[in-house]
Amino acid sequence: MDGNGRWAAERGLPRAEGHRRGVEALRRTVRAAGDLGISVLTIFSFSAENWSRPASEISDLMGLLRRFIRNDLAELHQANVRVRIIGERDDLDRDIRRLLVEAEDLTRGNDGLTLVVAFNYGARQEIAQAARRIAVEVAQGRLQAEAVSPELFSRYLHAPDIPDPDLIIRTSGEQRLSNFLLWQAAYSELIFVPINWPDFDRAALENAIAEYRRRERRFGGLMVAETGS
Ligand code: FPP
Repeated sequence: MDGNGRWAAERGLPRAEGHRRGVEALRRTVRAAGDLGISVLTIFSFSAENWSRPASEISDLMGLLRRFIRNDLAELHQANVRVRIIGERDDLDRDIRRLLVEAEDLTRGNDGLTLVVAFNYGARQEIAQAARRIAVEVAQGRLQAEAVSPELFSRYLHAPDIPDPDLIIRTSGEQRLSNFLLWQAAYSELIFVPINWPDFDRAALENAIAEYRRRERRFGGLMVAETGS
């Protein structure tokens, strides 16, 4: 969800207004994803590196997360959305940790769209944590080092039951992953759209999906024509 700050600057507005409009874009996108039959939507809403921003901006972002859960949780639940959170929770305020648990608990039984909120998330941190947990199990003799495969490693990530993303969309024209789902993105299609996140809407999502459909995914194999099948 990149470009909130630039969206605001272009209009002479404070960055906080860009983030507020970013939450509106998020609401639109969740609704559109549900309507389009997408099974999992993951949003990168606060990176492990975002702590380096000014304290006032961090406080704005935490406030928006609080308000999003307090105001939107009931509606998400009603819409059969299941909320999941990935990221490091220990550094977050206690009331936020409680809200995250509440969102997950309330929506646990829902089987519509799964909304994965990456909050205080960093892919390298996630991968290092998985490696650490595996190392402990090997050291304790509960796991053989030879058993460590990509499949086993995946089971130690934050949400092992969530499938790898088919498509990753980054807004604002930046063309990099910035520590987002590095392990899971091995074969994801990447689409970079030149619009800032607050302007993202259903049409932008549909366009990205249409481009995704035009791409041929080979997962390291051959093109269909080359296999003769
Ligand atoms: C990117 O814009 C956006 C963010 C870093 C924060 C987005 C998070 C929220 C709106 C918080 C609320 C979270 C939820 C789940 C409701 P940017 O500030 O990096 O923009 P810039 O690159 O143009 O400065």
